[in-house]
Amino acid sequence: MELHNFRCCDANFEKNNRNNDDGLSTFSSEEQVEVEESVTKLLTNFKHRLEVDTECILPVLHREEHVAFLRKGLSNLSASYEVCLDLADHVCYGYTCLELLDEPLSDETITQVAQFLGKCQCPDGGFAGGPGQEAHLAPTYAAVNALCILGTEESYRIIDRETLYDFLMRMRTSHGSFKMHKGGEEDIRAYAASVARLTNIITPQLFDGTPEWIVRCQTYEGGFAGCPAMEAHGGYSFCGIAALTLLSKTNLCDIKNLLRWTVKRQMRYEGGFQGRTNKLVDGCYSFWQGGAFPLIHMVLSLQDDAALSAEHWLFNQKALQEYILVCCQFPGGGLIDKPGRVRDYYHTSYCLSGLSVAQHFAGGKLSHVYNIGHENNILRPTHPVYNVCVEKIVHADLYFRQLPHPKQSENCAKK
Ligand code: FPP
Ligand code: ZN
Repeated sequence: MELHNFRCCDANFEKNNRNNDDGLSTFSSEEQVEVEESVTKLLTNFKHRLEVDTECILPVLHREEHVAFLRKGLSNLSASYEVCLDLADHVCYGYTCLELLDEPLSDETITQVAQFLGKCQCPDGGFAGGPGQEAHLAPTYAAVNALCILGTEESYRIIDRETLYDFLMRMRTSHGSFKMHKGGEEDIRAYAASVARLTNIITPQLFDGTPEWIVRCQTYEGGFAGCPAMEAHGGYSFCGIAALTLLSKTNLCDIKNLLRWTVKRQMRYEGGFQGRTNKLVDGCYSFWQGGAFPLIHMVLSLQDDAALSAEHWLFNQKALQEYILVCCQFPGGGLIDKPGRVRDYYHTSYCLSGLSVAQHFAGGKLSHVYNIGHENNILRPTHPVYNVCVEKIVHADLYFRQLPHPKQSENCAKK
């Protein structure tokens, strides 16, 4: 374990990092001050605890509480049908967390969850948020990832690759972009079509024009927007760079501008990331923004030898861990957006994935674990593109790669 000098213990930390509105207070600057105040309270308390913790084992990831929160919410899926419309996403968040926390799943659980996700699959392809609903790319992405996390042949076989391909072709527009659902707008979150790569159903026509459309979403700021001419945002940016990585077309975007924009989204005081310029820190962007760095690093390594010898990602990995561990753990389990907010599965999942990215560096020829606090904080590394643990992706890939490519059905013409 590496010993850590906490940023908040630096005598100049407050002076150097608090928000400066240059005497011009606005609604946004007032909100920012409020968040900083709530972070200060937690940091002050943390510093007091550090004074008595001479062995420096703080901060601690409250594994047991998080696992209990996750297991409770995943325990009776059938009973949740009526109260939760996006159960497939909820299942994906929950099992992504359990996997990062290295929690084993029983054979019975694997079978039950796989069968439940099978009920979310639509007869004409793709998955819906719950049984009987309409297919949508977000739960399709979630369900395929969850089935890969379950990691058995039984779970892989739930996926109907032929109708999945038909569904993706129906979501495709003539520009090469995708809609998230029937009648929806084109949307870069259709990076969710990454399921096609994972399940080995890509054809040249499926992604014809897609990289060019994605590149049109990169804005003057450097990040990607949900569609051309909109505002850059971390959620969309990850989708953009991940999709270009999958399609081997990162050369089409302005990677240095993306790097500059993403670096600037890490908050000086809080240590976590904001989603877009002039907005507030939020734990979920630990992954959406933090998770872009391994992808950016891969691209830079191809262009620039300096990146090959780097020993860390190009953001402050320790500051992000401090934010997640000190400010985003909900008492009693689960993780949150920012102090004062309530826990939910989405934030628990993306805070933990972001924590994993911040702990594990693996770029060029080097790999390194940067952990702050207790050694039990270390999570499993997550795959930079799919956000599923690396071994599970390798296993799923071996399975799907040996299956024949499904034939495109004739009544599924491009629109
Ligand atoms: C802004 O919310 C949120 C967005 C504009 C969309 C974010 C997109 C993702 C998280 C990507 C999802 C990806 C897949 C694959 C489904 P806000 O205005 O409440 O938050 P903000 O103030 O932090 O911007
Ligand atoms: Zn959030």
